[in-house]
Amino acid sequence: MTFIQATVKKNRQNIVILTGAGISKESGLDTFRDADGIWAKVRIEDVATPEAFARDPEAVHAFYNARRSRLASGTVRPNAAHAALARLEAEWAGEVFIVTQNIDDLHERAGSRNLLHMHGELLKARCAACGHVVEWRRDLGREHACGACKSVGGLRPHVVWFGEMPLDMERTYEALNQCALFISIGTSGSVYPAAGFVRHVRMAGGARTVELNLEPSEGASLFAETLHGPATKVVPAFVGRILAEGW
Ligand code: APR
Repeated sequence: MTFIQATVKKNRQNIVILTGAGISKESGLDTFRDADGIWAKVRIEDVATPEAFARDPEAVHAFYNARRSRLASGTVRPNAAHAALARLEAEWAGEVFIVTQNIDDLHERAGSRNLLHMHGELLKARCAACGHVVEWRRDLGREHACGACKSVGGLRPHVVWFGEMPLDMERTYEALNQCALFISIGTSGSVYPAAGFVRHVRMAGGARTVELNLEPSEGASLFAETLHGPATKVVPAFVGRILAEGW
């Protein structure tokens, strides 16, 4: 087999996994659009846009401080679905790349390493003045100074708000173009660009597409296979299946 053939064969084994809030639900973190979800309790326009932060930074900081302290409290832990994806990365011969919409750190704490937070990370802060990003596990407010440029008041959650560009999209689309299997887990398929990944993979040709979700997402009909049920049941079962017999 030539080097090219070997490379193509390896790429054919690459797996890309998109995760959303549903994978963290059984760890005790709310989703966004379920009946009891975050957007049923607070308006996106009040806490998750650059305009909201400019208009009322205290309200935005309070919203993220409450979620950050819960996540950092130690009571929220990775569940069997996060663990199954870490097992897949450890045992699968090809590359396993997780693109998560989640801002929690449960994939990392479960052991996943090849991971991209396209909507940012709750346990990091970013300086609006110089762009410096720093680990941040406590409450964040306008009294805090940036450790790099020393400016005060400009530190914000390192989270992508509505109207902002998701992070590292080039790396994501490169992986989508080369994967042999695309798995979507715990996402309603209602927010772009993530909701468009399955169409992108289908147009790139050749990859199998699978949805693992509690119920059919908005894009369910676009997937070659859909397995519905709680993530802590369907994800470990699917990972076991592909490790045993492929797809
Ligand atoms: N197991 C699997 N799936 C679940 C579970 C569970 N235990 N509980 C809920 N779900 C599913 C829901 O059925 C829903 O389809 O998870 C999905 C969660 O959808 P959303 O609440 O819309 O969350 P998500 O798709 O991650 O939202 C995408 O929208 O508000 C923005 O930035 C935010 O990253 C977020 C993005």
